[in-house]
Amino acid sequence: MSGHHSNRDFFSSKFGVIAATAGSAIGLGNIWRFPYVAGENGGGAFLLIYLGFILIIGIPVMLSEFIIGRSAHRNVFGSFRKLAPGKPWYIIGLMGVVAAFMILSFYTAVAGWTLEYLYQSITNGFEGLTSTELQEMYYSFIGSPVRPLLWFFVFMGLTGYIIMAGVQKGIEKYSKILMPLLVVLLIILVIRSLTLPGAAGGVQFLFKPDFSKITTKTILEALGQAFFSLSIGMGTLITYGSYIQKKDRLESTAVSVAVADTLVAVLAGLAIFPAVFAFQIEPNSGEGLVYITIPNIFQQMHGGYFFSILFFVLLGVAALTSTISVLEVIVAFFVEELRIKRSAATWLATVSVSILGVMCVLSTSSMSFFRIFNFTVFDLMNFGSANIFLPLGGFFIVIFVAWFLGREQVGKELSHNSKHKSGFIPFFMFVIKFLAPVAIAFIFLQGVGLIKFS
Ligand code: PHE
Repeated sequence: MSGHHSNRDFFSSKFGVIAATAGSAIGLGNIWRFPYVAGENGGGAFLLIYLGFILIIGIPVMLSEFIIGRSAHRNVFGSFRKLAPGKPWYIIGLMGVVAAFMILSFYTAVAGWTLEYLYQSITNGFEGLTSTELQEMYYSFIGSPVRPLLWFFVFMGLTGYIIMAGVQKGIEKYSKILMPLLVVLLIILVIRSLTLPGAAGGVQFLFKPDFSKITTKTILEALGQAFFSLSIGMGTLITYGSYIQKKDRLESTAVSVAVADTLVAVLAGLAIFPAVFAFQIEPNSGEGLVYITIPNIFQQMHGGYFFSILFFVLLGVAALTSTISVLEVIVAFFVEELRIKRSAATWLATVSVSILGVMCVLSTSSMSFFRIFNFTVFDLMNFGSANIFLPLGGFFIVIFVAWFLGREQVGKELSHNSKHKSGFIPFFMFVIKFLAPVAIAFIFLQGVGLIKFS
């Protein structure tokens, strides 16, 4: 039976683990979401708070997820069931699967836009358009149902295709090729953008903190962005952690991935904001920011045709190594809990995600009238997953590892093949017992307005 646990797939090497995990972390969250969320929340000050959260909350949650996954060797729901039999902790696992549905639905919609823009780049569709016309082009594209739907299904199909091939022959194989490609493309683009006339304004906006822009909502947005960008709080890394071999070190993986993810977000900021300022676009122009500024840069630049294709390939690649990681959460859950074949699980997952996905795609066209708490379906999935589900999940994940699994189990996973300097584990335990959960709870309750402290 294919749900049999002893022949579970695994990542073949440490590089494979890092490529796959960094592939999950680095994505539209860094290149599409980070720039516009930072733009709407004050730029430099937002970046600073964001960095703080990566350090004191992000890395500890990431490591906690690896510990859970590798201890249990199960999907997100099965992991909690196995480690805490008969206890209600599995609810966190279920929340993770729900969050995976939410993220994959709107995320694949945006990933689909990338394919449209790649197509436009190749066919010279931006040629001769002014700033205003490019803006109109974006709104008229997302404002009509057919093409965004088409691209959504293409992207969903690609994601399903890779996942069907398995952990080693699918996820790991493609991540090892695509991630190095992404890094090279990004560096080329940053150099190009920083050498535009007027680039300095954008660099200033990104690095010069203006704390007058900071509100409690900004702080929650920074926390949500940190969770979203690192792929934590919903069990993606529990699932990936369950494929890591016992010989591979978890701490160094977590730190490398967090550093790589942060670098890519900053580099993406350095590719976008100089252009935003050079072409006098509003830095807070929302979800369209990247899709409007980037064609603008390429329009006005030597070799723009070529760079534009590079950029949208980059964005598509970044998105793909993330969508596969989210789909894997659902597929691993279906395979092990419903005891069905991987291929059947993949079909079931892609078809069911697509139902919610279509609603997200249509949020900017035929279904824009449909609101829940005044959010479109797209906005609800985007805001709700990052700012509500992930922080809540992350809170319970660190609590689970710190107070339920406990120090001994943590020690087993963290010092498998080499002896630690004895300070690390006590320090980590302190962070996940007190610092991280208190910080998450405080920011969360403030951000959603349940408590008022200032
Ligand atoms: N981290 C991914 C990105 O930045 C998105 C993601 C979130 C993937 C949660 C998996 C889980 O694009």
